[in-house]
Amino acid sequence: MEKMIIANWKMNLGVRESLALAKTVLLGLQGKEIAPRVVLCPSFLALADVHKVIARSRVALGAQDVGPDRFGAYTGAVGVGHLEDVGCSYVLLGHSERRTVFGETDELIRRKITAVAHGKGIQAVVCVGESAQEHASGDAVQAVVRMLRRSLAAAELPKGSPLPIIAYEPVWAIGSGVQPTVPEVLAIVRALRETMEELFPKRASYPVLYGGSVNAENAYAFLREPEIDGVLVGGASLKVQEFQGILSAACEVMNYQSSS
Ligand code: PGA
Repeated sequence: MEKMIIANWKMNLGVRESLALAKTVLLGLQGKEIAPRVVLCPSFLALADVHKVIARSRVALGAQDVGPDRFGAYTGAVGVGHLEDVGCSYVLLGHSERRTVFGETDELIRRKITAVAHGKGIQAVVCVGESAQEHASGDAVQAVVRMLRRSLAAAELPKGSPLPIIAYEPVWAIGSGVQPTVPEVLAIVRALRETMEELFPKRASYPVLYGGSVNAENAYAFLREPEIDGVLVGGASLKVQEFQGILSAACEVMNYQSSS
């Protein structure tokens, strides 16, 4: 089974730095016959240039956010049409930093999901995750399922549009160096997948990723689980060695699974 590794560079790299890192990632994947689906998410400004670098590779381009419509009067926003123009295949939606720093609501995220679904095939990666408080009080499963239902249930997904990928990212694990245990992640991944199956029956697959302080050391433990389709990586995707370690873990898992 192919694993997906998404690098979320956030607001950390300029255009030149993004190009350099994209080239390094490509070099690291050279010669690997079995490799994960790697998605690089630079800032909006670097999308077009990074696309030129990765155009002839299996590495894909993702944006970190999108406006609530294809085009239109949304000052400061970048629309789905623009993302298509620069070669994006994926877009992150509802990241916890968008929700907390920029006040994005489930309602707004739902509009974005709908806009993406009516476009020309960009796949949304919808992030959901519980707060530290919800985690502490044992409400994580209910909290993330509620979030998913609110963002997705009413989103109108036209027939044939790609189903959003779900990224489970506990807010308390993002950038903190602490992560839930694998069994904790699995319990939530199962609940999210069941919810997707219920909302969108009879689809071929329901990909769910894990994100939150993934690094070279812990990536294998998540990736080896068949129920976890990949990882969404922030901080460690900026460090060449760390990210190569995560890619190697994915290659190892995929090689093992293809030979067994
Ligand atoms: P982190 O970020 O890997 O630095 O915890 C993950 C994310 O924000 O998607």
